[in-house]
Amino acid sequence: MTASPVVFADRLLSLGLARVSEAAAMASAELVGRGDEKAADQAAVNAMRDQLNLLDIKGTVVIGEGERDEAPMLYIGEEVGTGNGPEVDIALDPLEGTTLTAKDMPNALTVIAMAPRGTLLHAPDVYMDKLAIGPGYPADVVSLEMSPSERVRALAKARECDPNDITVCVLERPRHEEMIADIRSTGAAIRLITDGDVAGVIHCAEAEITGVDMYMGSGGAPEGVLAASALKCMGGQMWGRLTFRNDDERGRAAKAGITDLDKIYARDEMVQADVIFAATGVTDGSIVEGIKREPDHLTTETLLMRSKTGSVRRMIYRNPKEWVGA
Ligand code: FBP
Repeated sequence: MTASPVVFADRLLSLGLARVSEAAAMASAELVGRGDEKAADQAAVNAMRDQLNLLDIKGTVVIGEGERDEAPMLYIGEEVGTGNGPEVDIALDPLEGTTLTAKDMPNALTVIAMAPRGTLLHAPDVYMDKLAIGPGYPADVVSLEMSPSERVRALAKARECDPNDITVCVLERPRHEEMIADIRSTGAAIRLITDGDVAGVIHCAEAEITGVDMYMGSGGAPEGVLAASALKCMGGQMWGRLTFRNDDERGRAAKAGITDLDKIYARDEMVQADVIFAATGVTDGSIVEGIKREPDHLTTETLLMRSKTGSVRRMIYRNPKEWVGA
């Protein structure tokens, strides 16, 4: 008799995933605003790994802290979980916005996504050109092939508004100066962020709350897959194209099994099956609140979502400090 395959029990696993994300955030709580990015990141990594290893999964980290030789924990290819349970791919960023955390600036998150084995893009640690919009628009209303100003005009037309009424979120970087000037030529507003483009993309999915209609610009490719996972749960369109600055980066893509270096990945090519996604606020942001510290308790807010149902939970967790990490 052959054993029946273990199904991706996304409903059951999602609550476990929230715990993983919460644990990472709580571990970095004491490091918010302390100016030490490395310590904050390490605390989040340790806690995320410990919690992840309690889950009944046969997990492989496909988006993680880096290649095995540069990251001792949660490296790409690391096996996580108890080994009993479904085979899954895991994409994670224990602290998305290390600088935001160290400086106590908005929108630092702990982020993790899980999907059946072989269904998340193994994005190498290179840049990705990203473009995202929220739900409710016709398919492909904007594209990476359009210029930034063309995208604004196309989105405004679809929304039946003036380009002036569109707000685009962009990472503030010298490499985006031309793009910013082109967006401004349309009259659109720009929300500049200093870091944290996973949150930047998620903003598009709740435009009425965040005021952001579109995200564009280049940032980390691993963060691109995490953002695509979130949008698959919340609704919205996203595209990404890997960009390479040198042969080392092209080599990373080859190692990840990517042969077409110019390919534009649509959201569902980055995340090919049902996914579950959890993000916990480390610092206050427009998606979730950051960690609240009381003398004896820590309180976190976590966004927990499943693409199968499109369900979005926001979970507040108040935990006595003596139990943090237990
Ligand atoms: P870290 O948390 O690893 O510092 O990443 C923050 C971040 O802003 C990401 O959100 C973004 O994708 C990437 O860095 C952008 O990279 P760069 O700072 O090189 O422009």
